[in-house]
Amino acid sequence: MNKNIIVTGGAGYIGSHTVVELLAQGYKPIIIDNFCNSEKSVLKGLEDITGKRIDLFEGDCTDKNFMTNVFAKTKPVGVIHFAAFKAVGESVEKPLAYYQNNVVSLLVLLEVMKKQNCKRLVFSSSCTVYGTPKKLPVTEQSPTQKAISPYGNTKQIAEDIIKDQVVANTGLSAVALRYFNPIGAHPSALIGELPLGIPSNLVPFVTQTAAGLRNELTIFGNDYNTPDGTNVRDYIHVVDLAKAHVKTLDYLYGKSNFYDFINIGTGTGTSVLEIVKTFEKVSNQKLNYTIGNRRAGDVDQIYASVDKSKEVLNWKTELSVEDALKDSWNWQLNLSH
Ligand code: NAD
Ligand code: UFG
Repeated sequence: MNKNIIVTGGAGYIGSHTVVELLAQGYKPIIIDNFCNSEKSVLKGLEDITGKRIDLFEGDCTDKNFMTNVFAKTKPVGVIHFAAFKAVGESVEKPLAYYQNNVVSLLVLLEVMKKQNCKRLVFSSSCTVYGTPKKLPVTEQSPTQKAISPYGNTKQIAEDIIKDQVVANTGLSAVALRYFNPIGAHPSALIGELPLGIPSNLVPFVTQTAAGLRNELTIFGNDYNTPDGTNVRDYIHVVDLAKAHVKTLDYLYGKSNFYDFINIGTGTGTSVLEIVKTFEKVSNQKLNYTIGNRRAGDVDQIYASVDKSKEVLNWKTELSVEDALKDSWNWQLNLSH
């Protein structure tokens, strides 16, 4: 049976961990990546973890000829579409680059999928679509709010485009997974997040500070309406997140003209200070940090309702924030050597 799955952005942070889990479940992942935000060394890590040769097509998802050729050669039965730009702040400075890469890649992909009769799609969306939620935890019934960054807007536009393509009776079956905050690395420490330049996300900044690459972590505000005053997020281990994609592909089998969106989180909120304290405990390091001003655009707190993911995907997280921080630290130590 054909188990070929195209993984766009498969050399990236979440994509690479998903490739491992796809292989573990008997799928045959085929990576498409242009390495604009990843490195080829990821492939070595993947081959060391899985003991298998990884199929890769190097190229750009916005290039229709390239995409058509890859689909014609590999005849995939499904696609997981990770490829996108993802830096919220950068998207405010370079909106056109974000719309071009994130929206055009999806348009090209959907057209090629239709022409090549590939009918299953899992799309990387984000809890950013909920904006500032009025009620917690956030369920899939919670209203979406107008995005405050071009990046967030590309996720909302993408969800609409996919839904419209399903309404058009193309036979497509698709699920948008709305991730909460992915952290951690593979427990082997052979793959993980590779932030280019100064990280804007919390956990890479924490591990780089502990490794001596940054002087100190600034906690962006401790006067929020939360138990300890710092922001609360739902931090999910990237290996759990990767497994959710495999479950979603399974879920899409046998469905046609189907669209849904599902929260992917742990269901538990953790504050920035709790992350710092837990990191200190699992790494046995003292972290140099200071309290600074609020960062523009941060919501007080957000965490997921996980009822739907449990019910429809038969999936829930197995790893803790402690596990994730331990794995992130081991990955950082491996990178620093
Ligand atoms: P990442 O940058 O590590 O991975 C993305 C990969 O896609 C990279 O390897 C990059 O080289 C590749 N890529 C980008 N544009 C491409 C193009 N046009 N053609 C071919 N390859 C291209 O990012 P990630 O953290 O793994 O995120 C994956 C997806 O999940 C993205 O769509 C992102 O928006 C979404 N997401 C991420 C987070 C997060 O916090 N990491 C949260 C919510 C949603
Ligand atoms: N934080 C700090 N100091 C830092 C970095 C982050 O205190 O140096 C805090 C932030 O203020 C926030 C928390 O750590 O309270 C988490 O911040 P991240 O940047 O790691 O993650 P966000 O919750 O801001 O971002 C996530 C995803 C985005 C998505 C966004 C939507 O990474 O893809 O949620 O809210 F768009």
